[in-house]
Amino acid sequence: MEASPANAPRLLITAGPTWEPIDAVRYLTNRSSGRMGLALAQSSIRRSWPTTLLLGPTPLPPPDTSHCSIRRFQTTAQLQALLVEHWPSHDVLLMAAAVADYRPADVDPTQKRPRRGQGWHLALEPTPDLLAHLARTSRPDQTLIGFALEPADRLIESARRKLAQKHLDAIVANDLTTMDSDTIIATLLLRDGRTLSPGRELEKVQFANWLLDELATIRAAARTARA
Ligand code: CTP
Repeated sequence: MEASPANAPRLLITAGPTWEPIDAVRYLTNRSSGRMGLALAQSSIRRSWPTTLLLGPTPLPPPDTSHCSIRRFQTTAQLQALLVEHWPSHDVLLMAAAVADYRPADVDPTQKRPRRGQGWHLALEPTPDLLAHLARTSRPDQTLIGFALEPADRLIESARRKLAQKHLDAIVANDLTTMDSDTIIATLLLRDGRTLSPGRELEKVQFANWLLDELATIRAAARTARA
């Protein structure tokens, strides 16, 4: 592995959907491809920044492990445990994973429910908000960046609310059409009230480069807002 540049930020990146088991063979998931998080990992690796990727169940190929550390997860609970383990040794969290908001309650993951020819009412319970929990235990020198997926008509307003509620340093607001797409139209909202944007639709790889180029600005804005 190439030596990291002096003062390179240590990036922790999450990518992909979660799988929440219903029984031994079925699960609830979402349409996330993991492409955004993988693009962020590639961009970070190209800069020779120390990179840890927490990667959910995606068929897309992961980066070469000689350049980055990769840990795999399926459920929200597994991702939560990995975040608790890895966050203390990193400087920046890029939370691009599409984490389930609800999971089946009272699951027996060892049994398969037989077909009975009747309806089946699934009881769901809320999952914890991983980012919000992590923000409460972060050090002042650490930077948390979320990714908000919103309907176009309340994009900025909802993302701004999530930025404040989850105590983040920045949030990428993107339209619902971003999910499972190669491109992204995104606006970056900063903790100090400023808004940055690449100004046009970009391939996710290009957007990842743009976002990492802005990292120094994001971290400076976070320091000012906290002071
Ligand atoms: N997130 C999280 N834990 C959850 C759900 C979401 O950490 N249980 C993170 C996502 O990884 C993302 C950010 O929170 O970085 C915003 O996710 P989003 O789905 O837009 O918002 P939610 O908090 O889930 O709110 P809602 O579903 O009501 O839009």
